[in-house]
Amino acid sequence: MENSLQNEIAALKRERGAVILAHNYTRGEVQDVADFTGDSLELARRATMVEAEVIVFCGVYFMAETAAILNPGKTVLIPDPSAGCPMADMITGAQLRELKAKHPGAIAVCYVNSTAEVKAECDLCVTSGNAERVMATIPAGTEIIFVPDRHLGGHVSSKEGREYILWPGYCPTHARLTAKAIETARAGHPGAPVIVHPECPADVRAAADERLSTGGMCKFARETSAKTILVGTEIGILHRLKKENPGKSFIPVSDSLVCPNMKKTTLENLAACLRDMSPRVIVPPEIAIPARRAIDAMLAV
Ligand code: 13P
Ligand code: SF4
Repeated sequence: MENSLQNEIAALKRERGAVILAHNYTRGEVQDVADFTGDSLELARRATMVEAEVIVFCGVYFMAETAAILNPGKTVLIPDPSAGCPMADMITGAQLRELKAKHPGAIAVCYVNSTAEVKAECDLCVTSGNAERVMATIPAGTEIIFVPDRHLGGHVSSKEGREYILWPGYCPTHARLTAKAIETARAGHPGAPVIVHPECPADVRAAADERLSTGGMCKFARETSAKTILVGTEIGILHRLKKENPGKSFIPVSDSLVCPNMKKTTLENLAACLRDMSPRVIVPPEIAIPARRAIDAMLAV
């Protein structure tokens, strides 16, 4: 069954002239049929280089929106448009406008995990893979609003040694990881490095050895001499880590780190989406144009 769906997807992809982009957290079988799998930054970059007229985005809605904003003339499809990101939905454009009104002169920065409407209100966008580099371009003494992730914002702000005005959003999946779970995992695998995502709470980040984007985790896994690595992020990434590093073991710090939205893309709805050329992601130009300015400012760094 899986094989026949994979064959159908390959045939439809050729017929439609489509490219399939997938996030590192999607189901293993979806990653396996994708043309490119990556973190949010790599996917945004890849979306600027696509020659195909049709992009099928396997991930969550804000990622497909980013691809659509970067490719106004192309058809961007998402197999299940209900695959949202609860953190992205923790702030609306109106709430951000209200916050900006209280801090005139502040630079508004959004994590890429935000809606297009929120990006349209921002000066700059960052991902977990480039946040430190991008934030460093903001001149000293500037007031900075950072939305929606208080954990990524807190992580970069403490590295930079300056305060941001943080929106209290968070990722419900990464919020489930505890410092206690890291302690238990370390006790079971003495000496194994612990890598966590910067979306984790502060005590979890402090208990880990490395705080990395999912792309950073793939790089770390390739380069480390450690044979066992304890992984504190959404467990979908284990598929890629294991596939690319057959001689190493990757142990999830907690089995509870599953993002239900990242699991909504299946081979079935991916095939249906290519067959029907729907559902399509459309960002109206009055939002797409200002949102693109924030994304382009990030990609220029
Ligand atoms: P990255 O893949 O950019 O590290 O992002 C993680 C994430 O939570 C995406 O929703
Ligand atoms: Fe959003 Fe967290 Fe899921 Fe990423 S893992 S899509 S941040 S809820």
